[in-house]
Amino acid sequence: MNRITNLFGIRWPIIQAGIVWAAGWELCAAVSKAGALGLIGAGSMKPDLLQLHIRKAKAALQNQEPFGVNIPLQRGDADELVQVCLDENVKILFTSAGNPGRFTPTFKEREVTVVHVVPSVVLAQEAEARGVDAVVCEGTEAGGHDGVDEIPTFVLVPQVVDAVKIPVIAAGGIVNGRGIAAAMALGAEGAQIGTRFAATVESSAHPRYKQAVLKATDTSTVFALRKIGPVRMLRNPFAERCADAESRGASEEEQQALRGEHRERIGIFEGDWEEGMFEAGMGAGLIHDLPNAADLVARLVREYDDAMARLNAAVNTLK
Ligand SMILES: Cc1cc2nc3c(=O)[nH]c(=O)nc-3n(C[C@H](O)[C@H](O)[C@H](O)COP(=O)(O)O)c2cc1C
Repeated sequence: MNRITNLFGIRWPIIQAGIVWAAGWELCAAVSKAGALGLIGAGSMKPDLLQLHIRKAKAALQNQEPFGVNIPLQRGDADELVQVCLDENVKILFTSAGNPGRFTPTFKEREVTVVHVVPSVVLAQEAEARGVDAVVCEGTEAGGHDGVDEIPTFVLVPQVVDAVKIPVIAAGGIVNGRGIAAAMALGAEGAQIGTRFAATVESSAHPRYKQAVLKATDTSTVFALRKIGPVRMLRNPFAERCADAESRGASEEEQQALRGEHRERIGIFEGDWEEGMFEAGMGAGLIHDLPNAADLVARLVREYDDAMARLNAAVNTLK
């Protein structure tokens, strides 16, 4: 039990990230049923589809376990997505990529718990000042859209923990119980996990996406498109083109043209290895199987306990 389990009313302080094209109601409900917090990733959904996913998650969970929705605030229709969540009485929202202050007064009024994703100390302090209940502190190891300052989780988490009073959830590079134990040692009170949950049975990512994650090693991701919004993704032909463009100093316009549209859908959902964006984190090299979500949550907890027992044993031998 800690501030994060209390905030959400969950058993384990583990959050399945709102991973675009991979986190629909099935993954969200399976994770929440297992005692962690499942999120529906609204980043790939129009408002009516989001409503459908929320209703299906509710039906699957029958009001027994909490769940939430992730809304990337840079979306042109963010207001509509937020409205759908309010209308459907969703009680937990994770916002990212934008200013959460636009919505916090409404969230407070409607008793919605809101968590904002931040990549730096200053943005964590801003989010706290704007009234969010917790922050996800996301290091540059993370899959998907990352902060421009490229700060790794290992140094970002303790600095954010020291700078804010609200609870901090660590994200970026956490794929097993050892990673969760490390995040807790750095002062986090929870772990948000993306790439690992994208490679599960209930994830709606394409089988080719999941197989590509399984094949990945420590050097399989590329961080590119810095001028127009940096992304960490698996090294495929599209990612190589992005990295090449960047290294020859391609302009913002050129990078925008290269990125084009719908790359996440083409990659994560349709599995096009040549043309798609396969967003994934640096921890992909530690992923070797495709478990179902409940088994994964149970395993994460077991591994966390093992890691803590090993650390305690090591401390005892030193005494
Ligand atoms: C396939 C994929 C899609 C993602 N989509 C989103 C998204 O829509 N919104 C968001 O806030 N974060 C998104 N992220 C980032 C995750 O929320 C999470 O913070 C990150 O995956 C944590 O790092 P990890 O991948 O090393 O676990 C995505 C990550 C991945 C791998």
